[in-house]
Amino acid sequence: MTRSSLSYPFAGRHVNRMGYGAMQLAGPGVFGPPKDRATAIAVLREAVASGVNHIDTSDFYGPHVTNQIIREALHPYPDDLLIVTKVGAIRGDDGSWLSAQAPEDLRRAVHDNLRHLGRDVLDVVNLRVMGQIHEPGEGSIARQVETLAELQQKGLVRHVGLSNVTSAQVAEAQGIATIVCVQNQYNLVQRADDALVDELAAKGMAYVPFFPLGGFTPIQSSGLSAIAHRLDATPMQVALAWLLHRSPNILLIPGTSSLGHLRENLKAAEIELSAEVLAELDKVGGAG
Ligand SMILES: NC(=O)c1ccc[n+]([C@@H]2O[C@H](COP(=O)([O-])OP(=O)(O)OC[C@H]3O[C@@H](n4cnc5c(N)ncnc54)[C@H](OP(=O)(O)O)[C@@H]3O)[C@@H](O)[C@H]2O)c1
Repeated sequence: MTRSSLSYPFAGRHVNRMGYGAMQLAGPGVFGPPKDRATAIAVLREAVASGVNHIDTSDFYGPHVTNQIIREALHPYPDDLLIVTKVGAIRGDDGSWLSAQAPEDLRRAVHDNLRHLGRDVLDVVNLRVMGQIHEPGEGSIARQVETLAELQQKGLVRHVGLSNVTSAQVAEAQGIATIVCVQNQYNLVQRADDALVDELAAKGMAYVPFFPLGGFTPIQSSGLSAIAHRLDATPMQVALAWLLHRSPNILLIPGTSSLGHLRENLKAAEIELSAEVLAELDKVGGAG
């Protein structure tokens, strides 16, 4: 892809559309410490050295572990690095994911992120609405967005985003605060947000798919593998290249705990997909 199509305005700057999601740096089940902390640190440093300037995290990864590793690896942070975090959940002692959306929960979460990342202000805070775990559900989010807007006015949060939300919730939130991004589940085979991607692109708002590779069990498709083989690429590279081609407002945050996978994923930005291949991929993904 051309250099100009590989960046997008987000939260007051231009970010590289190929970012990095840090969730895989915690232990199994995103709970506890990683098996190999030194590699986790090396992955983060190599990502930034390779031009990644958008890292996605949360204090509920670990919990705390991912933010602490980001701080150890990258603090003092480069000026152009955008760290996006999310609030709205906490972890049970058994690793369960519990909704924590009351004003005092959100305030505590913002302070936890500030402390563990070692920052005075958070670049972007996404309100993670719990909905049906990985799918949004309708319902007002006004109270939560008002709380984040208060934290923004206090200077603790620069920009507010949303995660796991519907179009109606985006509209409601925009009546309360400026919303800079939406982070929902979306990838080649999970296309429920097709209309929302286009709606946000028309507004110039970033759309950041979570599970861009399919999540904990990455996408497995014989059709995708055949196309990747023909292009002399890997299936994961083609899945990422498809997202980059899908819409200019899509910013990628593929997650990996492996240096080899990081290098492979970053190279996806160099892959050009023809109109014919894009049509084939649409069929693989069950659309078009
Ligand atoms: N807002 C939300 O609710 C939410 C939910 C989930 C995730 N997120 C964010 O989105 C980011 C991305 O999601 P994700 O990390 O869960 O899922 P993902 O990026 O779709 O996939 C990660 C999985 O793919 C594997 N993988 C990565 N690169 C690979 C490659 N080149 N070849 C084969 N396997 C590969 C990883 O294993 P290895 O470690 O072995 O590479 C891991 O198991 C997260 O890191 C997190 O920051 C947000």
